[in-house]
Amino acid sequence: MRGVVVYSAPAKVYLSGEHAVVYNKRAVAVGIDLRTTVRLERSDNFHYQTNADTRYLEEAVNAFSSIKAVDGVEIKVESEIPVGAGLGSSAAVTVATLGALNEEFDANLSKEDIAKLAFEVERSIQGVASPTDTFVSTMGGCVLVPDLLRIQDTLDCAIVIGDTRTVGSTKKLVQAVKELRSSEPEVIDLIFDAIDRITAAVIEWLEAADYKRLGMLMNINHGLLDAIGVGSLELSALVDGARSHGAYGAKITGAGGGGCIVAICEAKKVAQVVEGIEEAGGKAIVADVSGDGLRKVVG
Ligand code: PMV
Repeated sequence: MRGVVVYSAPAKVYLSGEHAVVYNKRAVAVGIDLRTTVRLERSDNFHYQTNADTRYLEEAVNAFSSIKAVDGVEIKVESEIPVGAGLGSSAAVTVATLGALNEEFDANLSKEDIAKLAFEVERSIQGVASPTDTFVSTMGGCVLVPDLLRIQDTLDCAIVIGDTRTVGSTKKLVQAVKELRSSEPEVIDLIFDAIDRITAAVIEWLEAADYKRLGMLMNINHGLLDAIGVGSLELSALVDGARSHGAYGAKITGAGGGGCIVAICEAKKVAQVVEGIEEAGGKAIVADVSGDGLRKVVG
């Protein structure tokens, strides 16, 4: 008799390149150790238990059903990832669900197959999406997009996230940037090119473990995200709070409009940066890189 199959998948932050990545520019994203856990067992019907959007579960089961028939499943989701905050909560739930289905129904999908299928699920729900969230959540570590290459396992500095506790709609923000680009194509394309160059330098300073320069690039990237209209007063306040309390750099992560910022700093400055973010009205979350992406939870 089969029991419950449990899989988990991580959240992510962008070190550089969100929005520009929609136009095929480069981005670097990192899996972080906030996880979504999915418990799945066979059932004679379909039951989904989650405090977030059930569409990702339904669509993941639908997409998987084109590979192996699924008569019924019960899925329970527990998540440490704030929803709608730019940390990739929907990708994590999709990836973890596909991982559990893969095992329960012996589909023999590779991690690459799961990442691709998860991307199709996200795209079918969100309309526009880059494969960043689903790929990072499946593979973990530090990933270059659109190449979909894992360029590093970890970072040798601390990551502090600041949640504004406001929500931004990725779909609306991507649409707003598209409209801005239609109206001022030359200006916006120059900004996207600059972001692409920032990502090229991010790769270099990551490899050299020069976090001071990496932080400076994050600051420049933040300014450019503001320039294309995806900033907010709350996001700027948290960025300022982190920087003025000793972070190497800080920027919006994800679609913007609300959601989170990401800061990097020396390990010994974490408490200070947390204080800076909280004084500015945010919720600070100290995160480590998750070298693991999708993984089976045993016991
Ligand atoms: O807010 P998130 O985590 O969904 O990130 C959105 C990032 C964009 O580049 C704006 C869109 C995308 O799908 O890459």
